[in-house]
Amino acid sequence: MPLDYPTDPFSAVTHAAPYDYYRRLADGPPLRFDASLDCWLATGAAGVHAVLAHPACHVRPLGLAVPHNLAGTPCGAIFAELVRMNEGERHAVPKQVLAHALGQVDLARLHARTLHLAQEPLPGSAAGLNDALFELPLFAMADLLGFAPAQWPALAAWTRDFVACLSPLSNGAQLAGAQAATEALLQRFTVLLQDEEALPGSLLHDVVAGARQAGWHASGGVLANLVGLLSQTCDATAGLLGNAVVALRVQPELSTQLSAAPELWPAMLREVGRHDPSIHNTRRYTAQDVEFNGVLVPQGQMIVVVLASAVHAELGFGHGRHVCPGQSIAHAIATACLQAWAGALERLPLAWTYLPSLNARIPVFSPGEMK
Ligand code: HEM
Repeated sequence: MPLDYPTDPFSAVTHAAPYDYYRRLADGPPLRFDASLDCWLATGAAGVHAVLAHPACHVRPLGLAVPHNLAGTPCGAIFAELVRMNEGERHAVPKQVLAHALGQVDLARLHARTLHLAQEPLPGSAAGLNDALFELPLFAMADLLGFAPAQWPALAAWTRDFVACLSPLSNGAQLAGAQAATEALLQRFTVLLQDEEALPGSLLHDVVAGARQAGWHASGGVLANLVGLLSQTCDATAGLLGNAVVALRVQPELSTQLSAAPELWPAMLREVGRHDPSIHNTRRYTAQDVEFNGVLVPQGQMIVVVLASAVHAELGFGHGRHVCPGQSIAHAIATACLQAWAGALERLPLAWTYLPSLNARIPVFSPGEMK
């Protein structure tokens, strides 16, 4: 086994070549206790499906709706409302409203708008590409929500600062930045909500109208989940785009095929999502004793659900009640960006490593040698 073989599912996320390690995990038992990590691992399609579908496997530990370091802060107030972080009633109705509103988005229009935005300017350097991976998806979402173009750069920067509060790797300065960014985001959304009547057809309008219809009245909850749409877009879509750029670099023949047949871009992205996904794991906590095929997981345990060990089962967007409602939108945005950038990227010498993360695989590019 090579010396730098991944040692656990967290170091695998940013490893140069982790997929042999994931295959071995998938060949083992679907559910096992890992004594060195002091938690359970759910692996392979069977383990991942079983845990994500189980009603007693919750997204937060019992009695800890908000992590200790965020309790009583602006980030904590948002965190407490996110559909991603809730179960039961606080999840089901808001999730239905968000999924319905996201389902109304005109994907052809989104693709055309993003294609246009992604062309000016084209990424002309590794640093420009690193920024564009995050900015373009966030600009496209801000546009969908109904924000004016002059607001997009600040919204994108605040969203990147906000998501730092969701990572256990963030330091004190990043957490402080996340709090300031949260207040700025809430303020911008509050102003936009007051203008809501002026924005028929926007995603913001559809979410608010859907919330009213469904009897979801907690305005703080709606606001928090609007911020959540930006934060959920941020890392995951940057990772999909970045990993697609890596695939084009490693397999140059793909670029030739795709420029001859651009209708193949969506299929190419689906393959990237299967073979080099952006979200490698997620976590669940047992709300009671749970039995899976004879294996008993006691109440109060953490299960790391290793999505990347089940990639061939197309689990990159999750499964069950928390499945991602943004898949089509992410693909429309990523297809447009790559179509716009492909020519410029071919001329750009690139090397890459990965941003530090325990769950998201996002390349960070630097000037490299032309292969
Ligand atoms: C390539 C891009 C994306 C990937 C790989 C991705 C992946 C995921 C995954 C794996 C989950 C489930 C997490 C879990 O069960 O623990 C999830 C949830 C979610 N995603 Fe995405 N996502 C992407 C883009 C987006 C976009 C663009 C949006 C918004 C338009 C979005 C909105 C959400 C929301 C709101 C949830 C929470 C759903 C719930 O808890 O019920 N995602 N995403």
